[in-house]
Amino acid sequence: MAIWALITGASEGLGREFAILAAKAGFDVILTARQEDKLQNLAHELQRAYHVSTLVLPADLSDPEAVEQLWLDASAGRQIGVLVNNAGLGRNGSFADETNWPREAASISVNIVAASILMKRAVAHMVGHGSGRVLNVASTAAFMAGPNMAVYHATKAYLLSLSEAVATELRGSGVTVTALCPGATDTDFFAADEAVKATLITKMGLASAETVAASGWTAMEKGKRVDVPGIANKVFATLPRFAPRSFVAWTAAQFLKRRR
Ligand SMILES: NC(=O)c1ccc[n+]([C@@H]2O[C@H](COP(=O)([O-])OP(=O)(O)OC[C@H]3O[C@@H](n4cnc5c(N)ncnc54)[C@H](OP(=O)(O)O)[C@@H]3O)[C@@H](O)[C@H]2O)c1
Repeated sequence: MAIWALITGASEGLGREFAILAAKAGFDVILTARQEDKLQNLAHELQRAYHVSTLVLPADLSDPEAVEQLWLDASAGRQIGVLVNNAGLGRNGSFADETNWPREAASISVNIVAASILMKRAVAHMVGHGSGRVLNVASTAAFMAGPNMAVYHATKAYLLSLSEAVATELRGSGVTVTALCPGATDTDFFAADEAVKATLITKMGLASAETVAASGWTAMEKGKRVDVPGIANKVFATLPRFAPRSFVAWTAAQFLKRRR
């Protein structure tokens, strides 16, 4: 029986790279996001280049019912061997500014609710088959509070915590959960977030999406619990453990401030 990889947020950025890695590894690939034209183009590319089967299931993951339907459609008569919970978004700006709420609320729906639903359905399905791998795309944002991007950081802290806990629950089941925690990466993420002027983006180097996705995919294949790609990001993820929390939040605020 063919084994399928379900990749969320596959229309661009890291998700596109994960879809290519899944096809290269020989999985048939289910692609989901809202932009159907981009998913269809990628599906044709994968079929041509890697001779795999593809299924395009467009969905708005900010709607929990659409997420449940996505899982039903994806898993109908198929074995899902890999879930990459990659779709995500954030909002740069003050929490007190109510105009930020629609996008902040969408980030909670996609980064937390949709990722949790898909992970719950996938893990149950995978345990039933005795094998499977989940890759949750968190962020170095998971390791510290993020003033000026408060909701996004909180969503990624949730996803990291969930991943580590479930990875431990699943020991010995044949199913693994890996949290990928990238630093700033060269995708459209920040343009969509209108955070292009934050110091994080203007002053720091961006990793390539290809490199970051490859790191996460390899970690997932090895069943690693957490992967933080790059030395600077590893330092960034480790230091907060040894500093006062107020200092960590103040430092993060400097990186997340919008520059004029
Ligand atoms: N770029 C970075 O610096 C960075 C760093 C750390 C972690 N991350 C994480 O990496 C993941 C991928 O981000 P990226 O950098 O590749 O950003 P991106 O290029 O903006 O891609 C985001 C993906 O999420 C999908 N998405 C957004 N809202 C959605 C919704 N409501 N329903 C369905 N799909 C939705 C988008 O597809 P549609 O628009 O077609 O729906 C797109 O495919 C995210 O979880 C992000 O938090 C990124």
